[in-house]
Amino acid sequence: MLKTFSTILVLLVAPAVGYAQPMVNHFDAAAKVFRLDGGGVSYLFGVNARGELEQLYWGGRLGATDKFPQAVPMREWASFDSSYTNTPQEYAGWGAGLFNEPALKVSFADGNRDLVLHYESYAEAANGFDVVLKDIARPIFVTLHYAIDAESGILARSATIENRGSEAVTVEQAAAAAWALPAGRYTLNYLTGRWAGEWTLNQETVRAGARVIESRRGSTGHQANPWFALQAGEAEEEHGEVWFGALGWSGSWRITVEQDQLDAVRVTGGFNPFDFGYVLHAGEKLETPVFYGGYAKNGLDGASRLLHRYELEHILPRTEAKAGQAPAASRTALTPRPRPVIYNSWEATEFNVTEAGQMALAEKAAALGIDRFVMDDGWFGQRKDDHAGLGDWYVNQEKFPHGLKPLIDKVHALGMDFGLWVEPEMVNPDSDLYRKHPDWVLHFPGRPESEQRNQLVLNLARPEVREYVLGFLDKLLTENDIAFLKWDYNRNWSEPGWDQLPAAEQKRVYVEFTRNLYAILAELRKRHPQVEIESCSGGGGRVDLGILRYVDEVWPSDNTDPFDRLTIQDGFTYAYTPQVMMAWVTDSPHWLNKRTTSLSYRILSSMQGSLGIGANIANWTPDEAATAKRLIAAYHQVQATIVQGELYRLISPRNGSEFSATETVRPDKSQAVVFAFIHSTQEGRGFPTLKLKGLDPAAEYALSAIEGKAREGSPAVASGAWWMNHGLEMEEGFRGDFQAAAFRLDRK
Ligand code: DGJ
Repeated sequence: MLKTFSTILVLLVAPAVGYAQPMVNHFDAAAKVFRLDGGGVSYLFGVNARGELEQLYWGGRLGATDKFPQAVPMREWASFDSSYTNTPQEYAGWGAGLFNEPALKVSFADGNRDLVLHYESYAEAANGFDVVLKDIARPIFVTLHYAIDAESGILARSATIENRGSEAVTVEQAAAAAWALPAGRYTLNYLTGRWAGEWTLNQETVRAGARVIESRRGSTGHQANPWFALQAGEAEEEHGEVWFGALGWSGSWRITVEQDQLDAVRVTGGFNPFDFGYVLHAGEKLETPVFYGGYAKNGLDGASRLLHRYELEHILPRTEAKAGQAPAASRTALTPRPRPVIYNSWEATEFNVTEAGQMALAEKAAALGIDRFVMDDGWFGQRKDDHAGLGDWYVNQEKFPHGLKPLIDKVHALGMDFGLWVEPEMVNPDSDLYRKHPDWVLHFPGRPESEQRNQLVLNLARPEVREYVLGFLDKLLTENDIAFLKWDYNRNWSEPGWDQLPAAEQKRVYVEFTRNLYAILAELRKRHPQVEIESCSGGGGRVDLGILRYVDEVWPSDNTDPFDRLTIQDGFTYAYTPQVMMAWVTDSPHWLNKRTTSLSYRILSSMQGSLGIGANIANWTPDEAATAKRLIAAYHQVQATIVQGELYRLISPRNGSEFSATETVRPDKSQAVVFAFIHSTQEGRGFPTLKLKGLDPAAEYALSAIEGKAREGSPAVASGAWWMNHGLEMEEGFRGDFQAAAFRLDRK
């Protein structure tokens, strides 16, 4: 039901966990102020005297009876800076003298490019509002969607842009949302990287001008991730106000953080406007991705804990369990089940997969206590290396003369389920598919087609390509008992042409490609509800809150060096929950850094996320196999705490730190798991005492070592207050290079 300036009160009772306050979403008709409350957060915006939608407040929860007067547009600072520019609009059209980042920019058929959006109406929506804006003269309507999570206070914002006119308009720039913070000093945190070096946390003071974080690559990208956190003052783990956000989009994206001429900060994010142009015909709509935003009082650690919980409870899919698949005790009503411990063959065999070789590895894997056996690249078409085969998704007869069934049966007989690698959106020019449909790839006719890793990108935006990809995946899953797909994507776009469409419409590819990817994933999940999927893109190139709606886990990096992984995993967890963070134990010396590390160091590094083994276990000694078996069993017991608990970064591994440590605490505080790592002991320094966090101070906790020892004389049982105030001490001998220890604390 649409409403214009009437009052509504939406009162929902918050879940039993977390904040006990009721959530009150309210529209104050007299002051024209919208208010959303959830968890410890209030978000307010209103209609100002000119009719624009203006942000009023985003921060800690206000009193239930606190009221804001009607929004007042910011004054004109000088003739060079109009009030329209200075006012923190919720969703500003480019027009009327706007100099900062617009949320929406359109061009009309008659050459007009002025767009001024004013409030029109609102409707109640689940956990929030849909607020309609309209251009002051032309029938361009924008519906802003707002929903707040009652527990975390995280907002989900997006926009629907609609052309109700009779002529086409071109959308040149469309954000999902814009967030505003008042004038002040802020530290910006964002994640950048490269292949085998993803998830570097950057921290810098926000200065006048704009910092653009983006991907122009057609997919999320290794180079930057669509997440930000702005902290008032300096960056601190445990203290201080933090405003953070993450975009749910796996295509080209952009987040612009700008500090304007009056020191106010705005964050605008959505489709990347670079090479963008979406023609909206009469009556058509364009839906933007969702931009999630949250607020925490307790530093970056607090912000990531909120985001992790939100991802677990509201973003990730719940894949149905197969009979006997997961221990019932490890399933919770609200969260997806912890990931099976996998074995993956890639680093052991690369493309050289054979029935006998995979069966031999499967036997070794089963003996270690592995839950899932995954065969990686090399099983299909004429795939001997990365020059051929992508696109031809039939089983290679030389390698698997009887199809996949004998291997899958063997894996099942060994008590594991079976997973398979695919790279559905790609094609090698040396493939039957490319020979048959050379026009199916992204390209501009008559121009070279740039290959990367000897492959081209199929134009998934085309309906026939979407049907082909859905068709072969559906057939593969129907004909074989496959529990898991590792969905890879090993290059970025080039020459993104779509010559089946009129020239003016070809840029639709930036939207339709990603939409079709989501549509295929959604349809596969519907047809095969027990199949789980991993998003991999040569490592962490496609990790975002868009793809995480359809996949159960991600591959953070091809870099499996256990020491590098500590910083990679640390960076990853600022934005994403350890539940989705796959981490394999691989061989030593490591192929990338040539570093030698002990097996227990490697396993403990991987245990910080969802554990997997990717080493050539055929070469392991009985001692190594015994160590792995023992630690995998120990991991199974505490996995739910590690991957779904509240994460505290006790000592950061960043900036060449000599030590690092993390702690995760079960939400009900019944268990905690602590990891401690030494890079290289210097000057005989002992490991710092770890003052634990998040425990129940009044409860008693028993300490037990998973690996390593506590200092002689440490209590076997002590109160939460003891562990948090006195702290956990490592044994005297915990020194050296690349050393690791892990402990669990169980409430008595
Ligand atoms: C890139 C992935 O990240 C690796 O794990 C592996 O699957 C290779 N592709 C296979 O080509």
